[in-house]
Amino acid sequence: AVAGRRSGPLAGRTVVVSAGGTREPIDPVRYLGNRSSGAMGAAIAAAARDAGASVVLVGANLQAAPPAGVELVEVETTEQLRSAMHERAGADVVVMAAAVADYRVEAVAEAKRSKASWGERPTLELVQNPDLLAELAALQGRGLVVGFAAETEQDDDALLALGAAKLARKGADLLVVNRVGHDEGFGAVDTRVRVLDAHGVVADAAGPKTSVARAIVETIARRTAARSE
Ligand code: CTP
Ligand code: CA
Repeated sequence: AVAGRRSGPLAGRTVVVSAGGTREPIDPVRYLGNRSSGAMGAAIAAAARDAGASVVLVGANLQAAPPAGVELVEVETTEQLRSAMHERAGADVVVMAAAVADYRVEAVAEAKRSKASWGERPTLELVQNPDLLAELAALQGRGLVVGFAAETEQDDDALLALGAAKLARKGADLLVVNRVGHDEGFGAVDTRVRVLDAHGVVADAAGPKTSVARAIVETIARRTAARSE
């Protein structure tokens, strides 16, 4: 990792951030994917760097520019992301901002499939991927583990309830909840997030992704400091 600054609330800390979206191969030229650009994860990585941390950005098919001064590790599939995160799970802070494919194709074709081989109405058999956030949160002696949840729920109380349930299910320390829709969240410039811990909302930030990322990193820095006291 690129060495962090000597000052700042995360000076001397190591931070690993996953960003982007994983792709699951169908055949050598096709995949199942999602619309996550990685902009939020990249902004978190930049904010952590500015806070003095030594940062590794694990980018899954990043569409956003990786920030300078952070180490970039590129992955494509969920299995590759899983290995990259487990290798670095000893970091002081682990942030899962990547949109992880919930399913992968069970039998990936070794050669490019043709319509003749697919037929008129093909079906793909999918299998569920492991939950990386839950796995990382379950490790012994781990650092602070932070997840993200992008939800389309419009009702605010229901949105926060979904977030609280997801946080509990995964066993993470913090969950960043944001609402997404056709014109919200994905690639959009402005965003609003709430950061939850097991007791409720601990931070509320809105605006451009860069300033929201700074607010999230401030919350992370406070928690990291409190843990090592
Ligand atoms: N996540 C993960 N591994 C998965 C799925 C999700 O690590 N297989 C992480 C994401 O990186 C994110 C958090 O879990 O930090 C929440 O992702 P989300 O898709 O909201 O969670 P799911 O458990 O997949 O819930 P849903 O069924 O609503 O998609
Ligand atoms: Ca999911």
